[in-house]
Amino acid sequence: MTGTHDLFAPGAITRGGVVLPSFPVPQGVHPALDTPEYQSTKLRHPTEPLVLLPQRLGELTGPVLGEDRVRPSDADLTAQHSGEPIGQRIIVHGRVLEEDGRPLRGALVEVWQANAGGRYRHQWDQWPAPLDPNFSGVGRVITDNDGRYRFTTIKPGAYPWRNHPNAWRPAHIHFSLFGRAFTQRLVTQMYFPDDPLFFQDPIYNSVRDEKARERMISRFDYEQTEDHWALAFEFDIVLRGDNASVFEDEEDDDDE
Ligand SMILES: [Fe+2]
Repeated sequence: MTGTHDLFAPGAITRGGVVLPSFPVPQGVHPALDTPEYQSTKLRHPTEPLVLLPQRLGELTGPVLGEDRVRPSDADLTAQHSGEPIGQRIIVHGRVLEEDGRPLRGALVEVWQANAGGRYRHQWDQWPAPLDPNFSGVGRVITDNDGRYRFTTIKPGAYPWRNHPNAWRPAHIHFSLFGRAFTQRLVTQMYFPDDPLFFQDPIYNSVRDEKARERMISRFDYEQTEDHWALAFEFDIVLRGDNASVFEDEEDDDDE
């Protein structure tokens, strides 16, 4: 396990004969579960103190991911239909890292996003932007030995929602990460540089720390841009520590 995620890191605790990892949660980085400006958190946030349920052998050892079920074509959101989707073709790539920079290999990275017009292929999304018959908006990939992932997709459009008058979500891609078991899941969003909509977005601004907010913004990557093909954006995801990515409450991973 050298060079990769070590479940039995210092700070692990033992419960029922099983060694469990234990990590401090950084304060003031992750958004509050109840953020008044983000109105739907009123009903979603827990009103009782959280009870931590110990993970036992069953949760830690299975079910585990079936890597053979993830096909290379799952990472190309522009090649899932008979034609190509409308929009700006982009490459989104990066690494999944531990706080000390070690890569997390074998993690399942899933993405979902709106099309170029800002509409999801979902029955609840009925605002009058066109659906694209050549774009489903979902993809997945397993990180390699260096913790790297890479998607080809199109740049999503901004879309309106009902949080407040004239509310628009900045363009974003939703990310879900699974470790080696399905109980190890983290959810976050990736934004694009210089989006003019950040100022009025309560989800982006629910992260109070400015530097933590900036870590949700991808970096335009000219070196990985492919001539006559696609622009590229780099988005590293750090699991914990001072440079940790901002993660959402698991119940909060709908299409907003
Ligand atoms: Fe969304």
